[in-house]
Amino acid sequence: ISFCSPRDNCLIIKGGKIVNDDHSFHADVYIEDGTIKQIGENLMVPVGVRTVEACGHLVIPGGIDANTNLRASQNGLNPSDDFYQGTRAALAGGTTMIIDHVLAEPGTSLLLAFEEWLDMARQRACCDFSFHVDVTRWHDGVGDDLEILVKDRGVNSFLFFMTYKDRYQSTDSQVQQMVTSSLSCVIFQRQKTVLSLGITGPEGHVFAHPEEVHFHFSRDRIVVYGEPITASLAVDGSQYWSKDWATAAALVMSPPLNPDPSTPHYLSSLLACGDLQVTSSAQASFCTAQKAVGKDDFTLIPEGTNGIEERMSVVWDRIVCTGMIDENEFVALTSTNAAKLFNLYPRKGRIAVGSDADIVVWNPKDTKTVSAKTHNLTVEVNILEGLEFRGVASVVIAGGRVVVEDGKLTVTEGSARFIPRKAFPDQAYRRIRARSKVAENRGVPRGIYDGPVHDVMTTNKLMTPTWTKKATPCLQIQTGPRNLHQSGFTLAGTQIDDHVPRRPAQKIVAPPGGRSNITSLS
Ligand SMILES: *[C@@H]1O[C@H](CO)[C@@H](O)[C@H](O)[C@H]1NC(C)=O
Ligand SMILES: *[C@@H]1O[C@H](CO)[C@@H](O)[C@H](O)[C@H]1NC(C)=O
Repeated sequence: ISFCSPRDNCLIIKGGKIVNDDHSFHADVYIEDGTIKQIGENLMVPVGVRTVEACGHLVIPGGIDANTNLRASQNGLNPSDDFYQGTRAALAGGTTMIIDHVLAEPGTSLLLAFEEWLDMARQRACCDFSFHVDVTRWHDGVGDDLEILVKDRGVNSFLFFMTYKDRYQSTDSQVQQMVTSSLSCVIFQRQKTVLSLGITGPEGHVFAHPEEVHFHFSRDRIVVYGEPITASLAVDGSQYWSKDWATAAALVMSPPLNPDPSTPHYLSSLLACGDLQVTSSAQASFCTAQKAVGKDDFTLIPEGTNGIEERMSVVWDRIVCTGMIDENEFVALTSTNAAKLFNLYPRKGRIAVGSDADIVVWNPKDTKTVSAKTHNLTVEVNILEGLEFRGVASVVIAGGRVVVEDGKLTVTEGSARFIPRKAFPDQAYRRIRARSKVAENRGVPRGIYDGPVHDVMTTNKLMTPTWTKKATPCLQIQTGPRNLHQSGFTLAGTQIDDHVPRRPAQKIVAPPGGRSNITSLS
């Protein structure tokens, strides 16, 4: 018989239905030191273990909110709800991990901003956290910062603004520059890979420059994932016309909510069919006095809304209760998909032995009415005021500690951990790799070229070129080639320019002084 001392921090969740993104089953969960140690029925557990009753409830992975702004200031105004208030509210609603945006002012160091965020969150946050880094201006040196952030600091996601012109927006050419600098590395790596496969002929050039690296913003060329935010799933933009200035101002954000009342249902249907994969809050709250900086000029209103606390209940009420998705898809949309996309899985986003003990006992029958009077943020306006949602986090366990129980929230400031993330999450890169299968490319078996070869001048550029004995200047061959960069050329099947008539076959006579095996092109 083993005994559980308070130091061991052990806990058993009994009688619930465990719901992962792929299936549900009835079992108990035993937790020790912040980690799930056993799952099953009639578990052998130490004497004196604390029990959480979950009969009739769902036992789900804690929510992951992959879009929060708890530190980013706007025009010198810090959000009213910072890492402490914000993560407290997150936990109250069943979210046990956030990914917050590090926002470096244009021209300042991304690394220093990252360190500042890390320092602040370590002191204040009550649930585990990780960071995206927002690139507000591209300049020389940013590339080096990105490399350090990815390799040494556990950041695998960056944000480029397509809006906020003159402030944060990257121009097309800056985004292009960023992509190009990553792509020249890609091409260099691929050239090496292709050569190492023994493919030395001209076809290797095609393999080394896959279509994807020629940067098109079209959906079939890049891998895209999307997230609607809490606010857009629960309300439309009609409140912008509210007679109460504070109520209307609380909704100011970019892009604004669509006033069309069918928008929340439409976004829900996109989540249900899989076109959108993740739900986040985009939490950024400013109190009414801060919003009022823009009382005479809406362009000065600091942007952002609440939603960090209500996110899980909004998704349950609007998409599960309406029969658009089931409990497993609920877990995928609120937790697992984000964990997979941002490389946190299966440490986060799953109830499994070895995973972090971030667990929510979800009561599907309970309801909660949202009000600024009872929410856990400090702002005076809640954009979901008065709305009732079915589905409530009745017990919340974060890092193995019970933080919500019997309607009471018990958090510890600075108790959470920074969770570093490795680059190249499988979820996204499986598809990217499949689209550029270098390993399956085959070289063309052909005879060795034994014609003349031009000398390569490596030492003195000013020397006039000399020719080998048998040499002859390059032949000018008019073939009307496809332009690979513009044509949408693919390696197999029909080509985009197949309908363009070409001269059928270009005969090439053996060049003087040498004989090549090529008899026709195309
Ligand atoms: C905070 O969250 C808890 C747990 O969800 C909830 O019971 C409570 O009403 C919320 N508000 C306050 C002010 O504690
Ligand atoms: C030309 O190359 C093909 C394919 O490798 C080979 O079958 C053929 O024998 C070669 N012809 C000459 C004239 O070298």
